[in-house]
Amino acid sequence: MGDIVIGIPSSGVHSNGFSLVHKVMEQAGVTFKDPAPFSANGRTFGAELLTPTKIYVEAVHELLSQTDAIKAVAHITGGGLIENIPRVLPSDLTVSLNADNFNIPPVFGWLAEEGGISDFEMQRTYNCGIGLVLIVAKENESMVMEKLYYKEKATVIGTVKPRAQSAPQVVVNNFSTNLKFVQRSIRSPKKRVGVLISGNGSNLQALIDATRNSTMGIGAEVVCVISNQQAALGLKRAEAAGISHTFLSHKDYTSRQEYDLAVSKVLEGFNVNIVCLAGFMRILSPEFVQMWRGKLINIHPSLLPKHKGLNVQQMALDAGDSESGCTVHFVDEGVDTGAIIIQEVVPIYPVDTVTALTERIHKAEHLAYPKALRMLARGIVQLGQDGQVIFNY
Ligand code: GRF
Repeated sequence: MGDIVIGIPSSGVHSNGFSLVHKVMEQAGVTFKDPAPFSANGRTFGAELLTPTKIYVEAVHELLSQTDAIKAVAHITGGGLIENIPRVLPSDLTVSLNADNFNIPPVFGWLAEEGGISDFEMQRTYNCGIGLVLIVAKENESMVMEKLYYKEKATVIGTVKPRAQSAPQVVVNNFSTNLKFVQRSIRSPKKRVGVLISGNGSNLQALIDATRNSTMGIGAEVVCVISNQQAALGLKRAEAAGISHTFLSHKDYTSRQEYDLAVSKVLEGFNVNIVCLAGFMRILSPEFVQMWRGKLINIHPSLLPKHKGLNVQQMALDAGDSESGCTVHFVDEGVDTGAIIIQEVVPIYPVDTVTALTERIHKAEHLAYPKALRMLARGIVQLGQDGQVIFNY
């Protein structure tokens, strides 16, 4: 088995001393004049450029002290991916990275476009969204990922291969397509998202946090939250985030269709483009599903098509499954039957209780839902006429 490349997302542009410039300007009380004509996720590109570098010691220190599974670590600073990774790579090896597996933050799309910077120069100068790279033996992948995935949103971004003579030491596949998606999304207005909940709303929180994180470039914002339960904690989360929220009791309506129509009215009032179900404990009428077809997504705590409906964590344990996870899917007229956008897998351990498994799945959900929303908001994924998912890579 070969080695793999794990990437930890960056927090800033990280190169050419921008964070130093920031500090000096701050000390001198100089106000930065933003050269950008527009802003990303509410922050100006000037502010993005001056975001201080994240120091990854905390993230990897524990790992390095506990295991010798990490073969090499490269901090991606000035010199970008192309010049930093070879610093930790023997000359007879090359890494093949896949830009589909990491987020290129909007600021890089803007820089490339405004500066007319080529893909090669982007990769040679900027971190392009990857702040730290770890080289790990394939057999240690799950162990390392378990420690870094939820905490650091790390992903496997490539593989290490033998290097043919005079071949480059770093190749980033699908870079151009992903950069174009980013550029398109900065130019287009953010998609307006309505979230339907009935309870806790931890997935709602994950969506709010992700859409407000300017490096993630989700291309969407949560504009309204609707709950059919007055006591739902999710309503308080919306309140705390300053997002408009409405309690609509289904008990005040005589039919499912009538209730759903009232929900639709609220969503339309906010010019919602995408509806996310996040623990909304109601079956939707065919009319509602038709109306929002292709714009309506749900998160479910199992690896569909396995275990549909309620109490699915118990079902997975009863079935003796060795793994479970979550699924984000388009909603159709059936219960948990719509076309799948993405899934996240989590292990099931023999000692697991429903509570432990539910908690593990929740962590996976909080990464999966924003990812799926990003794919839909940016047009990376869409629902075809035949009810199948179309991936526009
Ligand atoms: C999640 O497990 C989701 O998959 C299911 O309902 C639960 C909602 O949890 N549809 P929360 O309210 O987002 O915490």
